[in-house]
Amino acid sequence: MSGNNKKPFNENRSEQFAVKILAVLNNGALSLMISVGHRTGLFDTMSGLPPSTSHEIAEAAGLNERYVREWLGAMTTGEIVEHDHENNTFSIPDEYSVWLTRAAAPNNMAVTSQWISLLGSVESKIVECFHKGGGVPYEAYERFHEVMSEESHQTVIVPLIDDLLPLVPGIREKLETGIEVLDVGCGSGYAMAEMAKEFPNSHFTGYDLSPEAIERGKERAKELGLKNINLEAKNVAEFNDEKKFDLVMTFDAIHDQADPACVLSNIERALKDDGVYFMQDIAGSSHVHNNMDHPVGTLLYTTSCMHCMSVSLAQEGKGLGAMWGKEIASEMLREAGFGEIEIKELPHDPINYYYISRKYQRA
Ligand SMILES: C[S@@+](CC[C@H](N)C(=O)[O-])C[C@H]1O[C@@H](n2cnc3c(N)ncnc32)[C@H](O)[C@@H]1O
Repeated sequence: MSGNNKKPFNENRSEQFAVKILAVLNNGALSLMISVGHRTGLFDTMSGLPPSTSHEIAEAAGLNERYVREWLGAMTTGEIVEHDHENNTFSIPDEYSVWLTRAAAPNNMAVTSQWISLLGSVESKIVECFHKGGGVPYEAYERFHEVMSEESHQTVIVPLIDDLLPLVPGIREKLETGIEVLDVGCGSGYAMAEMAKEFPNSHFTGYDLSPEAIERGKERAKELGLKNINLEAKNVAEFNDEKKFDLVMTFDAIHDQADPACVLSNIERALKDDGVYFMQDIAGSSHVHNNMDHPVGTLLYTTSCMHCMSVSLAQEGKGLGAMWGKEIASEMLREAGFGEIEIKELPHDPINYYYISRKYQRA
């Protein structure tokens, strides 16, 4: 016994914990190498090759063999790649490549592994915030908008028309007839571009703080020859549209706001009286004890600490964090003037809730 109220030291429990930490170290390292495999196109290359040597794989991928060989070492010991020692070849099983290649989208989990290295790139700045408070601004996250739009391609763009829109009964018909739609915190605006393509009679607007992301979106809209879309670099804490939109959407864009309450009020004001607010935001409870069974709870709290909460605090904001949870989200929606709030979930999407809200109807 050490200390008065302490439980006796359990050697077995302690040994098991050390084993767990070793697995954490290996898997953390593997996440980094999966990200590298995605960015270099190695998973895509290997999925199209028979068992091959490191030289053959490097040549097919157009990469440096020495680096490819070391990466294959990590992939082999990490049990993602199979190695034939006799022939000195490497291969990726089909059962694995369906989760790791570009062809596997929207199930390409290698896309998500990029967050680990992206978040790691600001670790020193975050450590400083632990000491001094404050936050790390958006601009410090190199590649943020690039990775975000790749991630959203899988979580928003692919399911948008067939899975997300049906969560709002009757909206498809209205979009076909012609309505005004706004995406708040639209990032690169790909969701609005996808809808503008599908519904030529409707008009689509997107606001985002980042001129870089808006520029990327404008280029995409131009490439697609879209005339019914307007993307603007704008602080959504300050927009003052009134009763203008039939549908306002946010995709993963409320919890990291500096002033989320103000943004929700602005959204409420921007909606027509019979308008609908569609908010996709992180699934979870506001209370950590309710999140013990969350399949990606640790990943989400980590992403929040290293990005979502911190970008908000960098603007002297609220710092809600990604795991603000449905209890706080519902309360804030009500405070913003939404009377009817439904929370929906989609099978195979453990990361998001879909809040469908309508204005409080004053008598
Ligand atoms: C997590 S990203 C989501 C982006 C996009 N909705 C998507 O799904 O890809 C949050 C977005 O909110 C934007 N944002 C944050 N604060 C903002 C503000 N005050 N005004 C406008 N946009 C803001 C960021 O620039 C970023 O693009």
